[in-house]
Amino acid sequence: MSDHVRIFDTTLRDGEQSPGCSMTTPQKLVLAQQLAELGVDIIEAGFAAASPDDFNAVQSIAQVVKGSTVAALSRCQRHDIERAAAAVEKAERPRIHTFIATSDLHMEHKLRMSRNEVLDSIATHVALARSLCEDVEFSAEDGSRSEREFLAKALEIAIEAGATTVNIPDTVGYAVPAEYGELFAWLRANVRGAEKVIFSSHCHDDLGLAVANSLAAIENGARQVECTINGIGERAGNAAMEEIVMALRTRRPYYGLETRINTQRLYPVSRQLVALTGSQVARNKAIVGENAFAHESGIHQHGMLRNRSTYEIMSPEDVGVSRSSLVLGKHSGRAALADRFKTLGHTLDEDALNRAFAAFKTLADRKKEVYDADLEAIAMGSSGDETGPWQLVSIRIAGRIGQGASPEALIELTHEDGRKLRQAAMGDGPVHAMFSAIEFATGFHYGLKDYQVRSLSTGVDAQGEARVTVHAEGRDYHGRAVSTDVLEASALALLEVVNRFARHRALLAQSDAA
Ligand code: KIV
Ligand code: ZN
Repeated sequence: MSDHVRIFDTTLRDGEQSPGCSMTTPQKLVLAQQLAELGVDIIEAGFAAASPDDFNAVQSIAQVVKGSTVAALSRCQRHDIERAAAAVEKAERPRIHTFIATSDLHMEHKLRMSRNEVLDSIATHVALARSLCEDVEFSAEDGSRSEREFLAKALEIAIEAGATTVNIPDTVGYAVPAEYGELFAWLRANVRGAEKVIFSSHCHDDLGLAVANSLAAIENGARQVECTINGIGERAGNAAMEEIVMALRTRRPYYGLETRINTQRLYPVSRQLVALTGSQVARNKAIVGENAFAHESGIHQHGMLRNRSTYEIMSPEDVGVSRSSLVLGKHSGRAALADRFKTLGHTLDEDALNRAFAAFKTLADRKKEVYDADLEAIAMGSSGDETGPWQLVSIRIAGRIGQGASPEALIELTHEDGRKLRQAAMGDGPVHAMFSAIEFATGFHYGLKDYQVRSLSTGVDAQGEARVTVHAEGRDYHGRAVSTDVLEASALALLEVVNRFARHRALLAQSDAA
């Protein structure tokens, strides 16, 4: 590989901590494995000291992921660093990522520490991290707003204490490209020991410049770039991985740099993240948005028909978006289905393919034509994410609907402990009635934060996708389900939430007992 830019993914840490993007441990594991398959060099799995739950998530990811480095974040504090080290201990390639702020603003008002105290803390804690792990990253939080000479001193001390990567975050998304790029050039020229370490960028998108700033850092010698899938993250988000990777690839003659990312997995992983968190991407989002490869105007379509490169700078297949609109039906076989999944960027193992084929047959019986969006929904469902303990047996809706009406829902559920429950409830509408019946039957009390239904394809028999986000016991849970009947999809989405909550509780009880 000519000159390699390391992709450091922080979807599971900086991304996951942003509103609407939280995930349970099993969900994080699904995504971590997808990130490893995508070819991410370093997966930041979480902030191990934040809670026992976060520790468990980082530890499980460290134990399972192969082929990528697994990093745990820690403040420059002994306890944090020891927790981070313990959480990544079993990783094939562990990393401790420790940080402290270096801007006067943060040191004075947030840390209430003097410059010398911050420098001492860096020396002590980077050395501690290095004594526990060979691979140590140091981040100078709010680096882009730090006084240059002091920032250089902080990095020198971190390098002397054993840091192998130094990261200069634009924590508040304040930097502009030429300035941020020049900062990297200056630091590489002026920091003692700079040649021994990898320089890293970490940009937030408050001014919409996160990707441009990251590319400017790369042009000035950064060889690690921190980013997230779909650009999720604090406030306006982090730099979007798919945009950085495709900019480097599409403009390779300009940058002369490569990443290890299998770009054909970018779109499937983006969809997987949407499925896990319920956090949608804008239609016009670069690379992974619904319109990213759609050409609507007559002039553009005319040009495209003559030669695609008139209006297309990269091909949708390169990022895993399929151009063909081949439709499958109930006579399509397993081989055709497997082939279609492959084209769509989903490599399913034998078991997952068997489950997907069964789901496809059921769907094809209910619906004449099965589109790519339907198959994508099936592939997401075969990702090994949790099911049970509750299962939906049937739903009946009775009564008038509309203004002033109170329809009744009768729900039948089973529990894996053998219980069978029938519960009726009335509501302002059928969805309200069903949700109340599920709440009464399962005893799961929650605050509904978001509920959305959309059609996945076209036609009256199109599948509806329902998404539910609820708040319970201090955290958000997301559920998603697909059916040709939107009421069934809604009930299944809520039941997924109930199951997720139940599994999460069981996991916590297990780790408390251990
Ligand atoms: O934005 C930031 O400064 C961070 C650091 C902890 C790396 O996320
Ligand atoms: Zn950040």
